[in-house]
Amino acid sequence: MRLVMDSNRNISGVVRLKPFAPPRPTMDRKAVSFLIVGLLAGMFLTTGAFAWLAAGHRGRPAGDDRLVLKLAHTLPPAAPVHVAMERFAELVAAKSGGTVEVQIFPSGQLGSETETLEQLQRGALALVKTSTAALEGFVPAMAVFGVPYVFRSEDHFWRVLEGPLGEELLAAGETADIHGLCYYDAGARSFYTVPRGVNAPAELAGLKIRTQRSATSMEMIATLGGSAAAIPFGELYTALQQGMVDGAENNPPSVYDSRHWEVAKHYALDEHTRVPDMLVFSQPVWRRLSPEVQAWITEAARESVPFQRQIWAEYVAECLTKLEAEGVTITRPDQAAFQAAVGPMYEALRETPLGPLVERVQAVE
Ligand code: GCU
Repeated sequence: MRLVMDSNRNISGVVRLKPFAPPRPTMDRKAVSFLIVGLLAGMFLTTGAFAWLAAGHRGRPAGDDRLVLKLAHTLPPAAPVHVAMERFAELVAAKSGGTVEVQIFPSGQLGSETETLEQLQRGALALVKTSTAALEGFVPAMAVFGVPYVFRSEDHFWRVLEGPLGEELLAAGETADIHGLCYYDAGARSFYTVPRGVNAPAELAGLKIRTQRSATSMEMIATLGGSAAAIPFGELYTALQQGMVDGAENNPPSVYDSRHWEVAKHYALDEHTRVPDMLVFSQPVWRRLSPEVQAWITEAARESVPFQRQIWAEYVAECLTKLEAEGVTITRPDQAAFQAAVGPMYEALRETPLGPLVERVQAVE
């Protein structure tokens, strides 16, 4: 039997035919036979064949009973998170004795983070690696990661993620049919710009900055005096090149791998946010997996995290060196000045449902 996670039909593969009612005397036998053949062909084409081809199963031998899980993300194959998810796929294959296969689709091939999360909610996609910023639209609590300087340091960030609050936020997507598996490191985000460097908050005035699809991120830019434009990551190179935006903000690997530096030559490491990546699973698909398969996937995801964090740290240093070699001016502005400038955001947040969450993050030692 073949199980294919694909299309709105979720798990398909077994074409079940309802018992056919005996022909009525008004139809002759020949007409009925044509009808049956037509119906069977139609069912095969619409269910089996579509799912088979769409899931990329061409050329597999008959009797192949692998469970195929598609994983979509927006970053290129060079990204540490992609490499770690290849490790995740290997771990799933090893634990399942080759019966569960994770197929990774990088570089936004299956759509933006928002688009793929929508597919995941419907069960059309099993897995998505997303920034928690894109999750904000589905799971409001994720907005806490977008609050600038809410984490005191990288260590504080990981203590929150690995503690009870991190577990709670990982599970917060259940109400939106999004099952969180693990966090991956996406470092700290800083401004990179075309016309000039942003080395003090006042220098953002008059600049249009691309943000992720995150209200918190847009609010931060507005508070700092810039204007924000939410644009999908995959469309950003063109937006920078055509002058639709003056800059953006991201971690060094994303700036380097996306080649945005070809256009934006100023990178100011103000490290305003630490927005993690998350590996999430489709709840409609998850519910149909056996506890054994669920355990393999859960364990494999968790086991891939230390590896991702290690290669991430190495790659950040490498990307900063490469960016400098490409002629990008990298500066380290006074972060306290940026922190002070976003102060009003904290005042405003206190009155919202996010206020208590921000306090809980800050209370983690
Ligand atoms: C980071 C993050 C990606 C996200 C990107 C963005 O690189 O890891 O998941 O797509 O930021 O700014 O959109």
